[in-house]
Amino acid sequence: MKILLLGGYGVFGGRLTELLLDIEDLEVVICGRNQKKAEEFCKTHSGNATLTPLGLDRAEIGAQLPIVQPDVVIDASGPFQAYGSEKYATIEACLSAKVNYLDFADAADFVFGVSKFDEQAKAAGIFVISGVSSFPVLTASVLRELSKSMEIHRVTGGIAPSPYAGVGLNVMRAVVGYAGSPITLFRDGKRHQAIGLAETLRYTISVPGKLPLRNTHFSLVDVPDLQVLPPEHPTMQSIWMGPAQSQRFCIEC
Ligand SMILES: NC(=O)c1ccc[n+]([C@@H]2O[C@H](COP(=O)([O-])OP(=O)(O)OC[C@H]3O[C@@H](n4cnc5c(N)ncnc54)[C@H](OP(=O)(O)O)[C@@H]3O)[C@@H](O)[C@H]2O)c1
Repeated sequence: MKILLLGGYGVFGGRLTELLLDIEDLEVVICGRNQKKAEEFCKTHSGNATLTPLGLDRAEIGAQLPIVQPDVVIDASGPFQAYGSEKYATIEACLSAKVNYLDFADAADFVFGVSKFDEQAKAAGIFVISGVSSFPVLTASVLRELSKSMEIHRVTGGIAPSPYAGVGLNVMRAVVGYAGSPITLFRDGKRHQAIGLAETLRYTISVPGKLPLRNTHFSLVDVPDLQVLPPEHPTMQSIWMGPAQSQRFCIEC
């Protein structure tokens, strides 16, 4: 299998590559706008998989697909909130070239809109899957499991990353981009607008049998969970999602 990975030397693309390195018969084309960074990444990472550097701007992907001929394109570049009027250009290029597509999108509107490509993807015989990352996949998995034994009415979710987890520039660009702006969520059974990062709550994560973590401050973010999960659980009236500052950031502040 050959994967073309946009953002291949970024924090998340790089982590994905590290996890794929032990697979034989796999080639990962490590892409980003800086050829030197792609080459450096490939030099410093080795395993059973083959890594190939490629200086490539996402905007040029249509021209590269017939040359590289990947089986799958993964977009781990972002920030997906800032893709603008051509926001689905990579998906459209993959549909024309009949190449499978996945992304790590964390922008609610972006992920919610991808279902419009379902029929075209099926007709082309490919997968087009958006939001294949912590938000909304972890929440979706937990809710699917819980819904086997209960009706879900209200969801308040948070994610508190380990202080050892890297945070990429594009994650920061995404979050800063909508801070103070209205974002769409479901509240009391209706679509509702709330202000990104301005709504907060405090929660103490306390795993039974372990010392509780320090009381943590969570802030509302614009993640796909807010829009893609309510239709999956018709009894759900409200949803709120927020990441927390990691312990390391608290100490540094
Ligand atoms: N859904 C989730 O739960 C979740 C979780 C984590 C991350 N994400 C999203 O994943 C994205 C990446 O996060 P990250 O932490 O890995 O960010 P990052 O470390 O800043 O990495 C971004 C990578 O994309 C490349 N890039 C940027 N613009 C590009 C373009 N136009 N064409 C090609 N490559 C481009 C960058 O390299 P150059 O600038 O050199 O081109 C860099 O390698 C973000 O949008 C983030 O919000 C989602």
